[in-house]
Amino acid sequence: MVVLVTGANGQLGQSLQFIAETYPEMKFVFCTSSDLDITDFDNCQTIFKQYKPDFCINTAAYTAVDKAESEPEKAFAINVTGAENLAKCCLDHQTVLLHVSTDFVFDAKFSEGTAYYDKELRLPLQNEKGLLETDVPFPGGTYGLTKLQGEQAIQAIIDNYFIVRTSWVYSQFGHNFMKTMLRLASERDTLSVVDDQIGTPTHAVDLANALLTIIQSRKTDFGIYNFSNEGHCSWYDFAKEIFRINKVVIDLKPIPSSAYPTPAKRPSYSVLDKTKIKSIFGISIASWETSLLEHQG
Ligand SMILES: NC(=O)c1ccc[n+]([C@@H]2O[C@H](COP(=O)([O-])OP(=O)(O)OC[C@H]3O[C@@H](n4cnc5c(N)ncnc54)[C@H](OP(=O)(O)O)[C@@H]3O)[C@@H](O)[C@H]2O)c1
Repeated sequence: MVVLVTGANGQLGQSLQFIAETYPEMKFVFCTSSDLDITDFDNCQTIFKQYKPDFCINTAAYTAVDKAESEPEKAFAINVTGAENLAKCCLDHQTVLLHVSTDFVFDAKFSEGTAYYDKELRLPLQNEKGLLETDVPFPGGTYGLTKLQGEQAIQAIIDNYFIVRTSWVYSQFGHNFMKTMLRLASERDTLSVVDDQIGTPTHAVDLANALLTIIQSRKTDFGIYNFSNEGHCSWYDFAKEIFRINKVVIDLKPIPSSAYPTPAKRPSYSVLDKTKIKSIFGISIASWETSLLEHQG
C-alpha cells in the first residue's frame, strides 16, 4: 500500500514521519515542498506517475492565517489550486485522497455576539458536542475561505476523498501555539492570552494516527470528518495548562479578543463534534489535557 504525503516538512507532515514505522504495511513517500509543489500540475503528475500511490495525504497548505489577508493569491494557489491538482491526479490514478481542512471554515458564523454558545458556561447551545460536518460553513477570512474552496474543488472532481477538518494543531514539530507560549515565557515575566475564543487543541501526532487509521480500515465511507482532541478550552486555558505541565512560572492574564486585534477574524467558537469519525472508524480520542501531558518531553 503506497501512501504519498505532501508537505512533509510541516508539523503534520513531520508527525506522520514520526509514526510511519508503526504502520509497516504502508510504504510511505514523503514529499517536501521542494520535491512536490502542489501548485504545479506537471510536478504532481510526474510524482503520481512515478509512485502510483494508493492513498495521498495532503498536509501541504498555506497556513499563515493573518498573512493570507495581504496575499490572497498565494493562499488561493496553494489551498485551492493545489488541492484541485491533487484531486485531478487522484482521479487519473484511482488514488484515495485524504485532505486536511480546518475549523476556520466556520469563522464568521460563530463570531462574537451569536447565540450559538453560552459565554458564561462556555458550552454550545444547540449541540453540546460542537459543530457537525453537516453544519453550513461560513468563512470570515481569506485562509478559511481558501480552505473551504479547496474542499469544494476536491468534491467537484472526485468521490474517493476523506476531508478531515481539524483545529488548533500543535506538536513538537514546526511552528505552533505551544511552542510560541514556551518561547515567550522564556523571554517575559507576564503574558496576556485571549480568553473568549473557545475551541479544542489537537496534537498533530493524534491527527496523524487518525489519518492512518482511516487508511488502515480500507473503509469507503468517503466524505467530510471532524477530528480534534476531546473537550474544549480557551487559548488562555490552553496556555495555562501548557505552563502548568512544563512547570513554567509566569504571570498569565486573560484578555478579550478585542484587546488583541488581528488582521484575520478568529472564530469565537469552533469546537468540532467527533461522533462521526469515532463511530465509523472506531477511533478513540484522548482529551486535549491528556494528550498535551502524554506528548511532553
Ligand atoms: N496548524 C493549525 O493550527 C491548523 C489548524 C486547523 C487545520 N490545519 C490544517 O492542517 C494541515 C496541516 O497543517 P500544519 O500545521 O502541518 O501546517 P504547516 O506546519 O504550516 O505545514 C504546511 C506545509 O505545507 C508546505 N507547503 C506550502 N506550500 C506548498 C506547496 N505549494 N506545495 C507543497 N507543499 C507546500 C509547507 O512547506 P515548507 O516547509 O517548504 O514551507 C509546509 O511544510 C493544513 O491543511 C492546515 O490547513 C492546521
